[in-house]
Amino acid sequence: MARSRTSSTIPLHLVLAPDGAGPVHRRLEQALRDAIRSGRLTPGSVLPSSRALAGELGLSRGVVVEAFEQLVAEGYLVTRPGGATTVAAGSTATGARVARPDVRLFEIDFRPGRPDLAEFPRRAWLRSIREVLEVTPSERLGYLDGRGVPELRSALSSYLDRARGTASHPDDVVISSGFAQGLGLVGRVLVDRGRRRIAVEDPSLDDSQAVLRAEGLTIVPIPVDADGLVVERLQTTDVDAVLVTSAHQYPTGAVLPPERRLALVDWARRREGLIVEDDYDTEFRYDRAPIGAIQGLDPDRVIYAGSASKVLAPGLRLGWLVTPSGLADELARVKTVADQGSPAIDQLAFADFLERGELDRHLRRMRPVYRRRRDALLAALARHLPEARPTGASAGLHVLVWLPPGTDEAAVVETAERAGIGLSGASRHAITPGPPGLVLGYGQIRESAIDDAVRRLTAVIDEVRGSTR
Ligand SMILES: Cc1ncc(COP(=O)(O)O)c(C=O)c1O
Repeated sequence: MARSRTSSTIPLHLVLAPDGAGPVHRRLEQALRDAIRSGRLTPGSVLPSSRALAGELGLSRGVVVEAFEQLVAEGYLVTRPGGATTVAAGSTATGARVARPDVRLFEIDFRPGRPDLAEFPRRAWLRSIREVLEVTPSERLGYLDGRGVPELRSALSSYLDRARGTASHPDDVVISSGFAQGLGLVGRVLVDRGRRRIAVEDPSLDDSQAVLRAEGLTIVPIPVDADGLVVERLQTTDVDAVLVTSAHQYPTGAVLPPERRLALVDWARRREGLIVEDDYDTEFRYDRAPIGAIQGLDPDRVIYAGSASKVLAPGLRLGWLVTPSGLADELARVKTVADQGSPAIDQLAFADFLERGELDRHLRRMRPVYRRRRDALLAALARHLPEARPTGASAGLHVLVWLPPGTDEAAVVETAERAGIGLSGASRHAITPGPPGLVLGYGQIRESAIDDAVRRLTAVIDEVRGSTR
């Protein structure tokens, strides 16, 4: 009989983050989480006893017990009767979606969250890269301040104060590898401060939920209605922070009205809580003036988060946080532990790009392009799929389309993919199951191709509805 794998047969090879990167039990938790998520520790593996692992790592047993307990609570580990601790079945999937983004190619690509990559301003970017390589002294290519290069922090601070109504100081800006990493850094700092519970909108971006869970936070769903987050529900919920897409709720597209924005800030002040404002696509607003960031109402209570993923391209992996004063140092510390800072040349190029006004120019050029695509999509939906209800079309690069009740959403997504149409079902973002819907991105489909794309999508929906009727 095969010997069961025991402490003596599993070499764990755990590498803990260095001292100064948070309490030791957190660093152990993270090392174990990483090992499980990367697949190095597979479901069913039996871990060494807490005593043996403590001895191996030179830690006290209490530290190991605490780390095990946390990971049991998060669903990564299970304790078997008799005391053995094993890696939970399905635990590797928790971070899988974040770790493995969808890089498939489709003939018709309605997947949300993607701008038109063919419109990336290559010439202007090249000019900035060239400029940086010509003028940057060699010593600037060494190790970095975890907050990011000063030129970019300063250029972003001016851009955001002007374009997004933030009240920022360059010292409080932290550069991250996209919003996804920025949110992870915030999550880590919250956990390091002993904060465990964060409210999120229900529905909200599934990847963000996964990032927060992976950092060890408990996510508490708060419902969303036609006006976005139902802020009053926060008053009766015990949470330390809230993640909100106030300017254009993801995925419903609702815009948080002024009274709720004020109520949210009031909640944060009274609770001494933090608002994490994910401002991912507000630069593209078509029917009214962009709404200023909540951060401007109370910079001490809001972490503002932005990203180049919609305004330029996700592959740049450039994101930024504007933080309450004092928090930037803590975030920079965890950023340094994570990756020693984002690439210097890209940061410097982006600073140059902003300072030349190239982002403003690009947005001025793209806004009418996307507005026409949005209009074409709404017209095509009205023509081919009149029973569907599109919402949230006033901004951004996607609309949420509620499907007739009873439509099998998963079957629509699957059948569409087989027919070469990429899209996203609404239910992947819902924490509490909701009605069937599709999140349709129009950033990547040329205006002239939209009507035919919707016609083909409608044929898929009819096929699925026909077979389930
Ligand atoms: C709600 C939301 N926030 C943020 C982002 C940007 O994320 P990142 O900067 O990690 O690409 C996206 C991208 O799809 C998004 O949909």
